[in-house]
Amino acid sequence: MYFSPERNTRLAERLFAHARAGTTDRAAAAMSYPLSVYADPAIAAKERERIFQALPMMAVHASQLPEPGDFATVQLNRTPVLVSRQKDGRVRAFVNACRHRGSTLVRQESGRRHLFSCPYHGWSYGSDGVLKALTFPETFGPVPEDLRLVELPCEQRHGFVWIVEDPQGRIDLDEHLGPGMDRLLAEYRLETYHVWRSETFEFPQNWKIMLEGVLDGYHVSFVHGATIKPYFYLNMMVIEDFGRHHLTGTPRRTIDTILDTEAPGQSALDGYAVFGNLVSPNTSFVLHPHHIEHWTLYQHPSDPGACRAVLRILTPSKTLDERGQVLMEKNWKIACAAIVNEDVPVGNGIQASARSPHAGVALLGLNEVGNQVFHRAWRHYMRE
Ligand code: FES
Ligand SMILES: [Fe+2]
Repeated sequence: MYFSPERNTRLAERLFAHARAGTTDRAAAAMSYPLSVYADPAIAAKERERIFQALPMMAVHASQLPEPGDFATVQLNRTPVLVSRQKDGRVRAFVNACRHRGSTLVRQESGRRHLFSCPYHGWSYGSDGVLKALTFPETFGPVPEDLRLVELPCEQRHGFVWIVEDPQGRIDLDEHLGPGMDRLLAEYRLETYHVWRSETFEFPQNWKIMLEGVLDGYHVSFVHGATIKPYFYLNMMVIEDFGRHHLTGTPRRTIDTILDTEAPGQSALDGYAVFGNLVSPNTSFVLHPHHIEHWTLYQHPSDPGACRAVLRILTPSKTLDERGQVLMEKNWKIACAAIVNEDVPVGNGIQASARSPHAGVALLGLNEVGNQVFHRAWRHYMRE
């Protein structure tokens, strides 16, 4: 069960009520924003600084480096990062660039190593980032004292390594998540999950368009008519609003089987509703009955009209039996097909509109509660 019994009951009461009445949660007021937020290079530059460089990114799952000496590499918004697990079990994050002349230090995605040797001229570093040895030292001459990899603020919590891209920055997950989101993430016990598969996509649309598509429940009837629509109540959502983050839930049609026979909360909601989580600024993950679909979005390095999306599927057990494997392959295909064939073309159209100075403003209605939280958080980070 994903939720604590209290939260499960609380959510069930509200989902049952909406399913019976055909209603949905509604925001207090509508919102609007200029479509230029998706195309303006000045806005993208401000996001690079205030959002992607300053805030903790939910960057690596801890199961990718479980033991001391294990490492994983990840590309943050602009910075390639090497995360290594120390002897005491803690993690540290470094810019994955050699201090000699900047060669990528580690090219593998993950592995175990106590010494990282640069592929270019063979300098080597410990898993604490300290330069241990350089090659031909007598001919190279002196190097600055205490030369080490550039270190980034990071913390492991809720099964993920969170990293701040700015070496001068600080990480404060209590402040960033707030007590509500922190408590919710703790309920999921994401540290017990494993990455079943991960893939990186590039799409020709702004990162916010892509993320908003994952948060949006209003479009399902129209964009996912054949694939997703039949399984859900449409335009129906409950929200737990944590200010800058949220949890949303939409009933599956399967809820009909318990609506009149069970008290709300009697059963775990896992199979009776789908839940979306916004961990702002750039992550959303969806709770399915047997897996979690985890999306993290980054900017394109220079084009505001493009993005990089990292999709991870997390499963509760490390190895799946044959049936589980087949099922997960099927889920993967469905998720990719719905996104690539159905959501992406719509998003590309929004991007085309945003390039025009004459397309006007976007509106977020009262029923678009999840997307409203995303924009509220974005404005907060951008100080707009
Ligand atoms: S760039 Fe790494 S040793 Fe030269
Ligand atoms: Fe969609």
